[in-house]
Amino acid sequence: MTMSKNSVIFSFIFLPFISSATTQLAPALYVFGDSLFDSGNNNFLPTVARANYLPYGANFVNRSTGRFTNGKTVADFIAEFLGLPYSPPFLSYKRDLLPLTGLNYASGSCGILPETGSPFGRCLNFEEQVGLFQDSVKSLQQRYFQILVDFSNYLSKSVFIVSIGSNDYINNYLETSLYDTSKRYTPQLFAQLLVYKLSQQLERLYNLGARKIVVFELGPIGCLPWITRNNKHTGQCVEDTNQIVSYFNNMLPAMLQNLTTSLKGSNFINGHGHGVGYDAIINPSKYGIADASNPCCTAFFNGTSGCIPYLRPCNNTNKHYFWDGYHPTEVVYSILASGCINNASFCTPYSLKDLVKV
Ligand SMILES: *[C@@H]1O[C@H](CO)[C@@H](O)[C@H](O)[C@H]1NC(C)=O
Ligand SMILES: *[C@@H]1O[C@H](CO)[C@@H](O)[C@H](O)[C@H]1NC(C)=O
Ligand SMILES: *[C@@H]1O[C@H](CO)[C@@H](O)[C@H](O)[C@H]1NC(C)=O
Ligand SMILES: *[C@@H]1O[C@H](CO)[C@@H](O)[C@H](O)[C@H]1NC(C)=O
Ligand SMILES: *[C@@H]1O[C@H](CO)[C@@H](O)[C@H](O)[C@H]1NC(C)=O
Repeated sequence: MTMSKNSVIFSFIFLPFISSATTQLAPALYVFGDSLFDSGNNNFLPTVARANYLPYGANFVNRSTGRFTNGKTVADFIAEFLGLPYSPPFLSYKRDLLPLTGLNYASGSCGILPETGSPFGRCLNFEEQVGLFQDSVKSLQQRYFQILVDFSNYLSKSVFIVSIGSNDYINNYLETSLYDTSKRYTPQLFAQLLVYKLSQQLERLYNLGARKIVVFELGPIGCLPWITRNNKHTGQCVEDTNQIVSYFNNMLPAMLQNLTTSLKGSNFINGHGHGVGYDAIINPSKYGIADASNPCCTAFFNGTSGCIPYLRPCNNTNKHYFWDGYHPTEVVYSILASGCINNASFCTPYSLKDLVKV
């Protein structure tokens, strides 16, 4: 971008901070991931992995649907904390009308590997999501060049959150009737492959201007109704499955630390969602939860899959850990979000509260 004398004078102007009466802690929130974060991108894609019908969204503003839970996701709670609107689905916008306060690229059923989730239809894998962000950067620069001259400052102060990789297990490695990855890779080597591919895309985000990037661990996948009910498991969790997924989580800190060290000015944050998520399943009463095994909605295939459309969900949603066969309720998301916002042992090395001040 060429800078005229005038634009240099105004380059200190930081539009989001001056255009809003409320206090914003960051100029934008950019969201990447799978159905844990999707705010409706899949509504615009040819896929059966959609949550665009009630009871999904039953407890969200206007009961609007597209989120794979009853209410707000972790991304929505973080947007509220930052004083920003909920990051809208990228696919709901025309390219020349993108907002400056952030976008959501997350896509249900997708993962890090391009083949993950393909039996359900089209979704946006992580590499595609980063590609769409790259397009967005170009469009935003064109649209806002007069009021936002210091674009790199805008991006470096923005918060990026990522939750991806669960489906590389759920809709790939553990789906042995459709994929042979578990024959080709040991759990360690599969985790290594995922973490390596993830790090490549995170580095790409950095090269596009991102500096504050929070990457969440994978949750306790062995405790999902999808796993426990399909295995007719009587206990709370299938620990063998949790063990397989733990290799990914265990490799994440070194990779993120490595990126922070090698990429100047970056802060890659590890969101330790697994420990608290698991604890809330094993000790639900500590968290005010009464049922940590059964989905709240009436879900397809004996409670192991998505919600059956338009059936009335359970009456005590806030006492349930699981909303459907795969996803937690808003209550669980709220616990995870406040952990990351406030607790520097949950989101390490900086909680979000501290990260926005860096
Ligand atoms: C909810 O509906 C009201 C009235 O139609 C609208 O102004 C508001 O933007 C909607 N909120 C969301 C989050 O969609
Ligand atoms: C459905 O799930 C319940 C709870 O896990 C289980 O007791 C029951 O046997 C399952 N039914 C079938 C037909 O698989
Ligand atoms: C850290 O980065 C170096 C250099 O890019 C690389 O060789 C090494 O494998 C990385 N380690 C991890 C844990 O990602
Ligand atoms: C929920 O409450 C309504 C009204 O009190 C009742 O008719 C319904 O049977 C209850 N549903 C469940 C799943 O308990
Ligand atoms: C902060 O997070 C850590 C790691 O998840 C957890 O062990 C600890 O209990 C949390 N502290 C508080 C005060 O919630």
